[in-house]
Amino acid sequence: MMIHSFPHTRLRRNRHDDATRRLVSETHLHVDNLIWPIFVCEGEKQRQKVQAMPGVERVSLDLLAEHVRPAVELGIPAVALFPVTPMEKRDEMGTEALNPSNLMCRAARILKAAYPGLALVGDVALDPYTSHGHDGLVRDGQILNDESVEVLRKQALNQAEAGIDIIAPSDMMDGRVRAIRSTLDENGYQTTRIMAYAAKYASAFYGPFRNALGSDALLGGDKKSYQMDPANSDEALREVAMDLAEGADMIMVKPGMPYLDIIRRVRDSFAAPTFAYQVSGEYSMIMAAIENGWLDREKTILESLMAFRRAGCHGILTYFAVEAARLLRAR
Ligand code: PBG
Repeated sequence: MMIHSFPHTRLRRNRHDDATRRLVSETHLHVDNLIWPIFVCEGEKQRQKVQAMPGVERVSLDLLAEHVRPAVELGIPAVALFPVTPMEKRDEMGTEALNPSNLMCRAARILKAAYPGLALVGDVALDPYTSHGHDGLVRDGQILNDESVEVLRKQALNQAEAGIDIIAPSDMMDGRVRAIRSTLDENGYQTTRIMAYAAKYASAFYGPFRNALGSDALLGGDKKSYQMDPANSDEALREVAMDLAEGADMIMVKPGMPYLDIIRRVRDSFAAPTFAYQVSGEYSMIMAAIENGWLDREKTILESLMAFRRAGCHGILTYFAVEAARLLRAR
């Protein structure tokens, strides 16, 4: 790199006015970069506030198409569906995950019919359906890998049959991407995409999400035997390499803002479509400060999302997606 020096070079010149700043901007945030996670629940006319996530609601299926309309009108390319499964439908094996008319599948059919051009992301993991709140099957206190994968591949197929376009395994079992890919292919779903939660950390920042799903009280123990240790970075590259080799089309890092270093390494190492999840705890932190008057709402939301783009993300799963899309349109 050529070394320039003051006073010949003044870096402030390129920051002089808005037009110039726009000309030299290295990164852009666009509605195309946004994926909106949505919580769906049973019942009718339900809009239940999620206590730890101000502004986020669980909505019943009769209201779902209306709920999603603003996202579609703003041009958000995809939504990610998360079902709130009632206790009586949960069991040890997560059987409800395989029910063709479970909440997730019904939600997918409604949205596919209403908005054929909207891409639907389906989370694959058993935690919304298990009585113990784990992402896989449990025996003698151990989370079983290969047995869980056998259920996950059927769960993925069930979702594809309901119209889910992008299967997003978030369970962190070894080998699940390969198993899901072959099951999809064997059943005629060669074009169904896989966005692997490749580097997913055992994080405290998922707390409000588990509260939204009602799985927080169920979960005895933690997910450290399958989700990654926050201390590790090289291991994230191995996880991503394996998921890509197994057939993932897109990979994800999660959580987001505390893991921007991982995003950058992943993008530089693999040059593959890279996503991050600005998770519930990140949302709640920002919202708490906004509601206290400690942070400026619009500037903070957009800066937090721009940071993901600068770190190398193609797209971001964010609970701010609709608001961010509105802000971007207004500019
Ligand atoms: C579960 C899943 C989790 C999230 C997405 N899928 C939580 C977990 O692993 O316990 C977290 C999302 C968020 O915190 O916003 N497979």
